[in-house]
Amino acid sequence: MIEISPSVLGADLLRLGEEIELVETLGLQWLHIDNMDGHFVSNISFGPDFVAAMRQKTNLFLDVHLMLSNPRQYIAAYARAGADLITVHAEVTDDVEDLLRLIAAQGVKTGVSIRPDTSPEAVRRLLPLCDLVLVMTVQPGFGGQSMREDCLSKLPVIRKMIDETGRDIRLEVDGGIKMDNAHRVIQAGADVLVIGTGLFQAEDPAAVVTALHEMAEGERCAP
Ligand code: DX5
Ligand code: ZN
Repeated sequence: MIEISPSVLGADLLRLGEEIELVETLGLQWLHIDNMDGHFVSNISFGPDFVAAMRQKTNLFLDVHLMLSNPRQYIAAYARAGADLITVHAEVTDDVEDLLRLIAAQGVKTGVSIRPDTSPEAVRRLLPLCDLVLVMTVQPGFGGQSMREDCLSKLPVIRKMIDETGRDIRLEVDGGIKMDNAHRVIQAGADVLVIGTGLFQAEDPAAVVTALHEMAEGERCAP
């Protein structure tokens, strides 16, 4: 079963409450929240108070993506704010295990993310501590970029690593997912699709959700 995780970064921030209601009405379960510090990436967005506001508004599964150079300092605050899953970047420290243990100690699910130029090997040793691996298909920092499809070749590699652990680890893709490339993302092995502008700025978001579910179902039934 694939999950669609709409990225709030692509929503109309002046109508945020209605945008969250739209996600619920579409029957989706996840909400992706991008947090940027202006240092790990060249943009700034959201923060623990924003996550707390989302938590007040909805029971959606809050999929919190930290693009921060020093996530260690903020993990507890995001957990208190009500994050269901916290994803940190593998590039920020040599001791990602420490971050993942800290997230798990808060009773929150753990994720690790890699940028487009980071090898899939970076996640191998982390899998015993992960509930999710997030493969970026754009340089993190901004919504609305074109997907780097070359990054999709990492997915079968990571899927195989996941299968070898025997653990139930989700494989999420983030960046530039649109109707015309989503089938390749699903085919490559993703089971959580982050979609920002492709959903919130679509003329008919319900049609996008239906099409994504149909693609996933088609892939599941493929020989
Ligand atoms: C980029 C963010 C993404 C972004 C995706 O740094 O991590 O979550 O919002 O937006 P789209 O789907 O517009 O590429
Ligand atoms: Zn993201």
